[in-house]
Amino acid sequence: MPFARLLAWYAVYYDAQTMSEAARMASFPENEELQQAGQATDAGFLWDFWYPAVRSEEIRGKRLATAMLLEVPLVLGRTSDGRAFAMRDSCPHRGIPLSYGRFDGTTVECSYHGWRFDGCSGKCVEIPSLTSQDKLKVDRIFAGHYPCEERDGYVWVYMTAPGGRAPEKIVAAPELPKFGARFKRTQLFCDLPSHVDHGIIGLMDPAHGPFVHQSWFWRSRRSIHEKEKKFEPIPNGFRMSPHSPSTNSAPYQLLKKMTGAPVTTTIDFVLPNLRLEEIRSGKLWFSSRATVTPVRRDLCRIDFVAAWNVPLPVFVFRSFAKTFLRQDQETMIQQSEGLKHNPRLMLIDDADRPAKWYFALKANALEERRTGQAKPHPMDGPVTLHWKS
Ligand code: FES
Ligand SMILES: [Fe+2]
Repeated sequence: MPFARLLAWYAVYYDAQTMSEAARMASFPENEELQQAGQATDAGFLWDFWYPAVRSEEIRGKRLATAMLLEVPLVLGRTSDGRAFAMRDSCPHRGIPLSYGRFDGTTVECSYHGWRFDGCSGKCVEIPSLTSQDKLKVDRIFAGHYPCEERDGYVWVYMTAPGGRAPEKIVAAPELPKFGARFKRTQLFCDLPSHVDHGIIGLMDPAHGPFVHQSWFWRSRRSIHEKEKKFEPIPNGFRMSPHSPSTNSAPYQLLKKMTGAPVTTTIDFVLPNLRLEEIRSGKLWFSSRATVTPVRRDLCRIDFVAAWNVPLPVFVFRSFAKTFLRQDQETMIQQSEGLKHNPRLMLIDDADRPAKWYFALKANALEERRTGQAKPHPMDGPVTLHWKS
């Protein structure tokens, strides 16, 4: 796509009235022509960031796992000395997925002609068909590979832009904040049949709560009331400043009774896809992170991890969290039905303001990558938003 057109496209893409072209393309998975046209357009992904690929337990022993991030197929494994690695799941010889091959704890052997690749560097270490006559420099051949780190039971992969290389120094993969040495932890995930942008703005949307998340233990539709929340800019994101959470939710009332101390909540959104929430009351704390990761342009995945020292059994928390995630998932499945017909969409004030910030931050990040120049944060200071939920 010519550059000017690409720019024009971004201009439309971030217009508050419209959704991404990629999200629209994604609505027609059955239409091959559109899909091919879609391949040629930008899928609206943010490259050069860390994304969670698989849970650590999926790469035990010599087992290889596969994942897809930003439409890149990956094969992941763990070397015998415990290091996680991620390669492009495609042999550089003929393209067969390397995940069909064998892993010996250090190298992955392709199932087709037996080329072997070092898991951590992707470097080719053997081509069995070569004879002493051959001059081919085997160690100049590489399978695609990506930086890989483990945190909080996830294998994170740094997704470098296609054709790009990982920079010499990259920031560490994100870690869930914890406020003490002893805590419980759990992980949950769910797939959403939508473009990552819809997943993310759904995640930060304050107005769907009373309609989507009605439950006896949480709140009823009748509990809807006016709210006023302060937001402030943070690097690559924004923060809902520390505040006392909604009094219409029973768990918060209980927490306050237990500690006798006020309950405060802080919620951050950080590019490309992280929502972090911490709830604190006296010595008790609860910390959670949700990430919405693009798998393909028409599919994303929420990974949710939480750690806490509040006296809350894991199974109880999981059953509540599953209910919430399922409610969101069902809503997104229904939404994707509607998006197939390419509707015009709206972002309104103030309930959709966080979504507007997300699109603006994303546009900035893309522009900064393109020009190498830092763009000003879309918020010029703290603001107070009002909505009813
Ligand atoms: S396709 Fe992998 S070794 Fe030939
Ligand atoms: Fe929700």
